[in-house]
Amino acid sequence: MRFINLGSRQDAAHYTAIEMFKEIHYNHCTLLGLATGGTMEEVYAKLVELLTLNHTDITCLETFNLDEYFMLDQNDPNSYMSYMRAHFFDKIGMQQSQFHLPDNDGIDVEEDNEAYDRAIREKGPLHLQLLGIGENGHIGFNEPGTPFDSKTRLVELTETTIAANSRYFDNEDDVPTKAISMGIDTILYSKRIILLALGEKKADIMAKLYAMSAPDESIPASSLLNHPNVEIVMDDAAACKID
Ligand code: F6R
Repeated sequence: MRFINLGSRQDAAHYTAIEMFKEIHYNHCTLLGLATGGTMEEVYAKLVELLTLNHTDITCLETFNLDEYFMLDQNDPNSYMSYMRAHFFDKIGMQQSQFHLPDNDGIDVEEDNEAYDRAIREKGPLHLQLLGIGENGHIGFNEPGTPFDSKTRLVELTETTIAANSRYFDNEDDVPTKAISMGIDTILYSKRIILLALGEKKADIMAKLYAMSAPDESIPASSLLNHPNVEIVMDDAAACKID
């Protein structure tokens, strides 16, 4: 696991976007694992700019998102589908058949989750999996205590995650308490992983992760120690507590 502090928020986000851009531009049929959240907004903005400037052929690009709120209408402005359409899919003209988010309609939940994992296994491994991190160390919505062999499934969000996500909702009671998340085992089934951590709220978890020499299920992001090609990209604020 390699840690890199790129100084400014913008430089860290742009570096991440450039790495994603290169994967898409130089491989014709790239498979990407995608994340949402505040951290990724600048990444998608830069990635859209680079793909447009370079007239990159995206007709064979295919993407799998990490998670989606359970039973939240896909057209709800707070759904991750809406987020992805607004920040990325619609901006570069991706067709519906090219992007996948976990099925969150509450019908055939287990079958749908198994099918999501199966699709990733059959098409994959993903060339690049993009990750953010929660203040409690979650990746996707795999909260502390998640077994490292977990697959895509219905999960309960913790109080910290609900509180952190409430900034997008009118009030905390509207924040969904459940989500469908790729499992840790699913996430690790990718050739390359970039985890981006921005801002001082991520400083404590970054310092903890940096100090870890062995994976521990109390910090889901430490599962990345089991993967051979992981880069942890930070800005100065997220890196400031690392000795
Ligand atoms: C979102 C996701 C989450 C976020 C994490 C950080 O798809 O998988 O793990 O990456 O909660 O969110 P922000 O970037 O809003 O701090």
